[in-house]
Amino acid sequence: MIIAIDGPAASGKGTLARRIAEHFNLPHLDSGLLYRATARDVLAADKDLRNSADAEAAAHNIDPATLQDERLRHRGIGEAASIVAKFPGVRAALSDFQHAFAHQPGGAVIDGRDIGTVVCPDADVKIFVVADVEERARRRFLELEARGEPVTREGVLLTIRQRDERDRTRTESPMRAADDAELLDTTNLDIETAVAAALQLIKRKIDRPDPA
Ligand code: DC
Repeated sequence: MIIAIDGPAASGKGTLARRIAEHFNLPHLDSGLLYRATARDVLAADKDLRNSADAEAAAHNIDPATLQDERLRHRGIGEAASIVAKFPGVRAALSDFQHAFAHQPGGAVIDGRDIGTVVCPDADVKIFVVADVEERARRRFLELEARGEPVTREGVLLTIRQRDERDRTRTESPMRAADDAELLDTTNLDIETAVAAALQLIKRKIDRPDPA
C-alpha cells in the first residue's frame, strides 16, 4: 500500500506521515529531506543555490545515509530547499529514489508537495494536509523557539508565506492537491485528533477503493 501525504510547510504532514507509517508498519520517507540535503550540499560546497547546474549536481550526489543529519531541520535549510526545488533537473535527479522507495514490496508512506500528483499518481491513498497560515506559523515559531533559534513570530509568518508562494507557483511540479486526494484541515486539531482523522480517511479509502 502506498500512502501519499502532501501539504504546505508546518501543516502537520510530517508528523502525520510518521504516525501513519508506524500504525501500518510501513517504511516512511520525508521527501523534503532530499531537497534539504541538496541545498545543504550546495551551500557546503560554496556553490550558488540559484544556479541550476550546481543544484542539479548536488542532487545527483546525495548520500541517503546523511538524511538523518540534524542540520537539515534548521530554518535556513528549509528556505534553501524551496529554492533548489524549482529546478526540473533537481526534481528529476531526486525522483527515482522517491519512486523506488514508494514502490518497494509492501509499499510505503511518503510525504512532500507533489507525491500524489507527480511522484506517485498511483498511490492507494492520497491526503492533502492544510492548515491556516497563522496557525502554521505559530507551530513553526514554537518549534524553532524551543530549539533556541533566534526567531520572531512575524519573521516566521513571512517566511512561511514566501515559501508557500514559491512552492505553489513554480512551473515544475507545483504544490497542489491531486484531484483524488482527501483534504485534511488540521487548523483546529491537536496531533492525536489529526492522526485519528487521517487513519479514518485511510480506512475508508481502503474499504471502498475508487472504481478503476
Ligand atoms: O517539507 P519540507 O519543509 O522539508 O520541504 C522543504 C522544501 O523542499 C519545500 O519548501 C519544497 C521542497 N519540496 C518539494 O519541492 N517537493 C517535495 N516533495 C518535498 C519538498
